[in-house]
Amino acid sequence: MEHELARELNDILRDTTPGALLSGIGRRLYFPKGIIAQGAEAKQFSTLANGTLGVAEKQKKPLILRALREQIPGLSAGEIVSYAPTAGLPALRELWAGEIRRKNPSLEKAAISLPVVTAGLTEGISLLCDLFLDEGQTLIAANPSWDNYPLIVEARRGARMGPVDMFGKDGIDLSALRTALTCEAEKTGSVRVILNFPHNPTGYSPTRKEAGEICAMIREIAEKGCKTLVLCDDAYFGLRFEDDIEEQSLFAYLADIHENVFAVKIDGATKEDFAWGMRCGFVTFGGKKLSAVHYDALIKKTMASIRSTISCSSTVVQNLLLKMYSTGGDTLPAEKAAFRDIIEGRYKKARAFVDAKKGHPLLRPMPFNSGYFMSFRCGIDAEALRQKLLHGYGVGAIAIDPHTLRVAFSGLDDECINEVYTAIYRAAEELAAN
Ligand SMILES: Cc1ncc(COP(=O)(O)O)c(C=O)c1O
Repeated sequence: MEHELARELNDILRDTTPGALLSGIGRRLYFPKGIIAQGAEAKQFSTLANGTLGVAEKQKKPLILRALREQIPGLSAGEIVSYAPTAGLPALRELWAGEIRRKNPSLEKAAISLPVVTAGLTEGISLLCDLFLDEGQTLIAANPSWDNYPLIVEARRGARMGPVDMFGKDGIDLSALRTALTCEAEKTGSVRVILNFPHNPTGYSPTRKEAGEICAMIREIAEKGCKTLVLCDDAYFGLRFEDDIEEQSLFAYLADIHENVFAVKIDGATKEDFAWGMRCGFVTFGGKKLSAVHYDALIKKTMASIRSTISCSSTVVQNLLLKMYSTGGDTLPAEKAAFRDIIEGRYKKARAFVDAKKGHPLLRPMPFNSGYFMSFRCGIDAEALRQKLLHGYGVGAIAIDPHTLRVAFSGLDDECINEVYTAIYRAAEELAAN
């Protein structure tokens, strides 16, 4: 049975692309006019007393334990322990919306939604799969991809990963991507795809030319009538280390590309602001001809998913980040740039090492030009190589699958990069010799 409030939202979205792409859960979800909505109303109008929310207050301020209070002197009690609104602090959402537009000038004319705060990007990706992916449906994704995708898509949602061998010798295998998109479009009439650039685990981002071609092929299937969901996982946004890489998120081009394309940007403070464990991500919607009313309905569906899983994101984290963004002044961009330069320096060292080993018979670096990682296609078992590296050389790396070893150069101190890569090649050669 569809709840009356769910029906209202579904009616609003009925003739839109996101409406057509909603999953069963997506259709069922609604944001109740219950505690949260009534509490927000009372906050505004209760002049004598507010008896709505399950919190303990004294003279309109939340009680807070001194030992906790003292840890965070820059924030008020309310900024630490109060519940945050389900979609996140309005000021933080507005600020992030401005940042998205600043970093992606091609969005200039696109009407996009206000970002919704999620507990890290993972929650954003997971809730989007809840909203738009049904059991048995396919989410097209690069192979290899971040190992949390199959966990979310297959184990959790009961859907299917549609893996595309998207990375050729020198860059993106556009024809493999085109085949995957067109086959799915012809088979089912709709496409759901997640694009993650800079990519985990390869560390590849499209060049401007490749980005243009990817967007063109998405437009092509949309023009043929295919409803297309594009999830842009921008976890590592901004970490581009070569000049020919596309500067903007693909979301900037897809948010207004065709009525049949519904684009979602998933990004956040996690990697962009070096705040990995703080758990602050954002989900932002974009689609041609979607109005403020449509976005409001989509945000309510998103809030319903948040309310029914984690209820809301951490207040203290949102306030700390908000304070950082608004009080960081000129030093913040400079400091971020300096951190970025550290990672770029590590990229350059790793790059130089593997370039010098070009043509190695056992280890072929997959194309990489950005982000935190690079991966080797291995002519030996990647797990055996990982074990040998760890136990023989004291070096940790990740065996992504039997043929792929991922190295996070981002986390390697400059002084040990050559040593780490020497160990990788040596370990591979020793394994092959045995
Ligand atoms: C491609 C990709 N997407 C999303 C995430 C998740 O980010 P978060 O830690 O904010 O959940 C990661 C983190 O490693 C990632 O590599």
